[in-house]
Amino acid sequence: MQKKDINWSELGFNYINTDKRYISYWKDGKWDEGTLTSDNNVHINEGSTALHYGQQCFEGLKAYTTKDGRIQLFRPDANAKRMQESCKRLLMPEFPTEKFIDACIQVVKANEAWVPPYGTGATLYLRPFLIGVGENIGVHPASEYIFSIFCMPVGPYYKGGMAPVNYITSDFDRAAAFGTGKSKVGGNYAASLYPHQLAAEKGFADCIYLDPATHTKIDEVGAANFFAITKDGKKFVTPNSSSILPSITKLSLLQVAKDYLGLETAEEDVFIDKLDEYSEAGACGTAAVITPIGCIQHKGVDHVFYSETEVGPVTMKLYETLYGIQNGDIENAPEGWIVEVK
Ligand code: PLP
Ligand code: COI
Repeated sequence: MQKKDINWSELGFNYINTDKRYISYWKDGKWDEGTLTSDNNVHINEGSTALHYGQQCFEGLKAYTTKDGRIQLFRPDANAKRMQESCKRLLMPEFPTEKFIDACIQVVKANEAWVPPYGTGATLYLRPFLIGVGENIGVHPASEYIFSIFCMPVGPYYKGGMAPVNYITSDFDRAAAFGTGKSKVGGNYAASLYPHQLAAEKGFADCIYLDPATHTKIDEVGAANFFAITKDGKKFVTPNSSSILPSITKLSLLQVAKDYLGLETAEEDVFIDKLDEYSEAGACGTAAVITPIGCIQHKGVDHVFYSETEVGPVTMKLYETLYGIQNGDIENAPEGWIVEVK
């Protein structure tokens, strides 16, 4: 397979038009067979509910090349299931898990020339999305839907890769306490653009959202989940909240921390005025895997965790172990986490 002539190590997190994408239509109560297409535009009716009422959801997952040249997906079943949960919340038809995984495999295979080689730090990012379409004007579920997956090679989400970045708490919420925060739906991201811009203008990588009901506990970090390590280095803690996305990276780290690093783990409240209980902190998600948190600014006061320039030892070990599982360097991955593309 002749790979594309790309400087893989220089890639950022940007759109690239690759060769093929998968598309399937839901009409008259069922999904069609689905097909691969070269057309990177989606043609939809002007009344589509996705355009007006945000009836849409999406996912993000990656394919990795192993040292011996195999290509593997990380936990695509978990993305399929989370998308089904988003669909339930927005009254959209669910796309079945098996079809979802098969579509991912088809897309990776059809774009094999775009899959970054091992050791470049780049990966193939897959973006599944599901949208309400068709002739409509009232506020009610669409009569037709489109499910699609496109992909592109990406580098690290934050330039500089695995280096600590600083965050500031936001006075805004991205989602309500029992709103759509648990679902990966576009509205949450539209709501996050302005708070993100305010944080960026002040020189921060992104903002930290506090729990929408009391604004006393950490909810999420921009478009990633939060974790921290207690001062004694023995416990991995991550917020338990009704308004955060159940991050697949976070759920994986909970297991890695326990089974590979022998840490205690807990999903519990992380109070913004008790950050001195933790020695390290990080943001986690598919795009960045782990971004170490140098400092959090809250009400004008800076709280530095391990260091603003160096990565803490537990954070590093978590990253190396999870990334090692994802790219196949660590072969004893937990059952079902790795799906080979063949
Ligand atoms: N939180 C939000 C709001 C996100 O958009 C993402 C990205 O997908 C995450 C957390 C991390 O989730 P995952 O680890 O499944 O990518
Ligand atoms: C993630 O994968 O961690 C993200 O937050 C992706 C983002 C582009 C929505």
